[in-house]
Amino acid sequence: MTAGNPSTLSELEKILIDETGAIPLYKRYRALFSLKGLGTKEAIQSIIKATEKENRSELFKHELAYCLGQLQSKEAVPLLLKLIADPNEFVMVRHEAAEAIGAISDKDNMQFLGQYLKDPCQELADTCFLAIKKIEYENSSQDIKESNDKQKHQNIYGSIDPTPPEMEANSIEELEKKLLNESLCLWDRYKAMFRLRDIGTDEAVRVLSTALLTDKTSALFRHEIGFIFGELQHPLSVPALQQALADTQEAPMVRHEAAEALGSIASVDIIDILESYLQDEADVIRESCVVALDMYNHQNSDEFQYAIIPQ
Ligand SMILES: [Fe+2]
Ligand SMILES: [Fe+2]
Repeated sequence: MTAGNPSTLSELEKILIDETGAIPLYKRYRALFSLKGLGTKEAIQSIIKATEKENRSELFKHELAYCLGQLQSKEAVPLLLKLIADPNEFVMVRHEAAEAIGAISDKDNMQFLGQYLKDPCQELADTCFLAIKKIEYENSSQDIKESNDKQKHQNIYGSIDPTPPEMEANSIEELEKKLLNESLCLWDRYKAMFRLRDIGTDEAVRVLSTALLTDKTSALFRHEIGFIFGELQHPLSVPALQQALADTQEAPMVRHEAAEALGSIASVDIIDILESYLQDEADVIRESCVVALDMYNHQNSDEFQYAIIPQ
């Protein structure tokens, strides 16, 4: 596939928008990640168009917003602000739109985000808090900016994270204290979380698992641990992810990240777990398991890239 091939682009856009409603979700996911991989102006326009049109799947729409943030698309800002402002929009979509505004890191959007710091939707309020801190951080003095750029290079996963990793605390014990301290602000706890991800040892995974299962303060915080477990793909995270997915009292955004992380870990015993949630009551959980099973199939295939659409 080449970036300049319009038939490929329009094919991908068709799959993404899926006017027929008949294209399986996992194919739409793969089309989305193909377009994200291309990252051209045209690819971004297709993602914006699909985000505007999507009204069926909360899961897919949140992933569209996520990709716009990761691509740091300035063209998407008006749409992302509209999604945040709409109280009838899906929670996960509003959250992902606010996180995307943080990833784009334009100072002009700080005031807008400030309106949602006390929003009744706690996931949104927490995301806006982190996004404002992120924008402040990205626009701060030269020295900090330089060390920030260095840290970006150290993230081997290539994601734009909502916070930088904590670089002052060095031992797992210190990071654990910060991560589990529920009276500390989310910015500091997230920094500890990302440093633990970057350390990535068995011990770091154990600490992150404890936080996923014991935190009582923020679904957003717990969902982010699920997300980084998907990046880490560490087998020791499986029991905690399985427990989070099984907890029907847990917020759907947390269970969703747990399901997708299990899909990317892709050990054999994971199929049964994921298949058992294909009839879950929550749409985002059923759909996450469909996508996660496709990720599992990809991990266990000889496909080089996930973003190749299977026939
Ligand atoms: Fe998220
Ligand atoms: Fe997600």
